[in-house]
Amino acid sequence: MAEATSILPLRLTSVTLQARGQTLIDGISADLQAAGRSLILGPNGAGKSLLLRLCHGLLRPTAGRIDWAGGNGERVRRRQAMVFQDPVLLRRSAAANIRYPLHLRGIPRGERQAAVDEALAHAGLGAVADRPARVLSGGEQQRLAIARAWVTRPEVLFLDEPTSNLDPAATRAIEELILAVARAGTKIVMTTHDLGQARRLADEILFLHHGRLLERTAAADFFAAPRTAEAAAFLKGDLLC
Ligand SMILES: Nc1ncnc2c1ncn2[C@@H]1O[C@H](COP(=O)(O)OP(=O)(O)OP(=O)(O)O)[C@@H](O)[C@H]1O
Ligand SMILES: [Mg+2]
Repeated sequence: MAEATSILPLRLTSVTLQARGQTLIDGISADLQAAGRSLILGPNGAGKSLLLRLCHGLLRPTAGRIDWAGGNGERVRRRQAMVFQDPVLLRRSAAANIRYPLHLRGIPRGERQAAVDEALAHAGLGAVADRPARVLSGGEQQRLAIARAWVTRPEVLFLDEPTSNLDPAATRAIEELILAVARAGTKIVMTTHDLGQARRLADEILFLHHGRLLERTAAADFFAAPRTAEAAAFLKGDLLC
């Protein structure tokens, strides 16, 4: 399913989102390059989820532009996927959930099973393949959501706080899966408010506060020497308001 021309970088130009007289996303400009895992970090209400939804095309900016290098058509939509904080799974087996996007893409029936099996094994879900998705544990459901998003080998995977409801062991399994997906060549753009997670996963940090992009820095530099008082306070564990 590899295609010659990349849809990246993704360019945000003065992206703004207003609703009910409030500015929720405030003039964000940034290029998201193909290389590196980009973590959007910030306190609750900073605008992380909204920014991710804007990038994925689920919301339209009220001002500014979002441009993919590959254009803005069907091909760009097909080459990206998103995983939500609370995954929405089909009332079918785990395997059927993964098979479904392959069906939608018109992958021939005979080729689907091998791809499903590989995705299940990759996510450590081989043993629960035939169980209804809705009876899986929270961690298994989230791994299934990632496996389903990954089975079409998107060029970009957006993840919105995929571990916020999970315990440390389930979180570790998800983080390992995300790293494996990244190693296999998919660009990761992910939100978190968890500093430890950002340290473990990020190549670069986009630090958001009150809808504004306060810093966009290589992860090592961000954690060693944040450039804004807000980021320094966040790193110290102070409550930001
Ligand atoms: N449709 C909407 N209309 C008005 N305000 C909204 C809407 N959607 C989100 N907001 C507000 O925008 C702000 C940013 O929301 P967002 O969900 O992006 O925050 P977040 O950084 O993802 O927070 P969290 O860490 O809690 O997930 C919040 O103050 C929220 O209440
Ligand atoms: Mg959020």
